[in-house]
Amino acid sequence: MAHAIRFHEAGEPEVMRWEEVEVGDPGPGEIRLKQTAAGLNFIDIYLRSGARPVPMPNGLGLEGAGEIVAVGEGVIDLAVGDRVGYADMPLGAYAEERVMPAKIAVKLPDAINNEQAAAMMLKGMTVQFLIKSCFPVEPGSTVLWHAAAGGVGLIACQWLNHLGVTVIGTVGSDEKAELAKAHGCRYTVNYKDEDFVARVKELTKGAGVPVVYDSVGKDTLRGSMKCLQRRGHLISFGNASGAPEPVELSELSAHGSIFAARPMLFDFIAERGELLACAGDLFDVVASGAVKIEINQRYPLSETVQAHKDLVDRKTTGSTILIA
Ligand SMILES: NC(=O)c1ccc[n+]([C@@H]2O[C@H](COP(=O)([O-])OP(=O)(O)OC[C@H]3O[C@@H](n4cnc5c(N)ncnc54)[C@H](OP(=O)(O)O)[C@@H]3O)[C@@H](O)[C@H]2O)c1
Repeated sequence: MAHAIRFHEAGEPEVMRWEEVEVGDPGPGEIRLKQTAAGLNFIDIYLRSGARPVPMPNGLGLEGAGEIVAVGEGVIDLAVGDRVGYADMPLGAYAEERVMPAKIAVKLPDAINNEQAAAMMLKGMTVQFLIKSCFPVEPGSTVLWHAAAGGVGLIACQWLNHLGVTVIGTVGSDEKAELAKAHGCRYTVNYKDEDFVARVKELTKGAGVPVVYDSVGKDTLRGSMKCLQRRGHLISFGNASGAPEPVELSELSAHGSIFAARPMLFDFIAERGELLACAGDLFDVVASGAVKIEINQRYPLSETVQAHKDLVDRKTTGSTILIA
């Protein structure tokens, strides 16, 4: 028997239970994966707490990596013994072993180990689609990135720096500011005690930035709009501080004919070709050494409750993995 984290009702971290589960054989189009680790992501908090309702009972977790131990009928591009990583629905990554659709699994190159993959598939592909597809950044430009020392944030700082983009990053402490700077973030703003709008205006000599990547939501979204140049882009991709008040379309014109988007990774990797291209770009930039995956917290899967508490309490930096 294998173990997995399951929850039977939405709520506080304690609703997650470490249970024995029957894994079973893979059906058509499925693989059975023996996992090395699962990745912890802020979206897991929305799902566990009920902010994003899912059917009950359910598993949790959307990111992981391991070795294929069985393949179902019709799986042609993956085989037993392959190491793979993934980041997508269905829920259930917080597990020692699982059966899952083969179409979301990506074969890992030798340069990427399983722990790195578990720490970066969701966060790294998110950075890839945000800076290359959703709003393609220009070398020489300056962008604002909120929560720059987080899992997505540390990857973004390094990748943008590598592309010749200047990053202004917000952070919640002086230690996080140092960490973000060490990963390519040129300017940091501790938004707990400094007005980030005023600081962005000062750093850009009043011009503002062409794009803000905002995953904090409630506490920052309206300020983010004020940091934009005319015809700038507000990319709202998360709500770590809660859902922001609704924005009227007329506010977009009032802020200089700005554009607003609320994108999700899963819509950018829905086709197998899109997934392989996005993951391949991530593997290349990590294998080159330009982006390092900082696994700053490791917990046994059975201690996922504590991992959730630490993420919500803003105690983590970089990536967190749950060891199977
Ligand atoms: N749209 C998509 O497809 C997509 C995909 C992946 C991730 N995301 C979003 O990207 C964001 C980052 O994800 P992640 O997994 O890498 O998490 P993370 O950045 O490691 O953790 C969230 C960070 O948000 C900041 N934060 C600000 N206010 C907060 C509050 N009230 N409560 C908790 N945290 C607060 C904290 O950093 P400071 O202390 O420095 O402020 C915290 O460390 C999340 O909002 C997530 O939902 C979206």
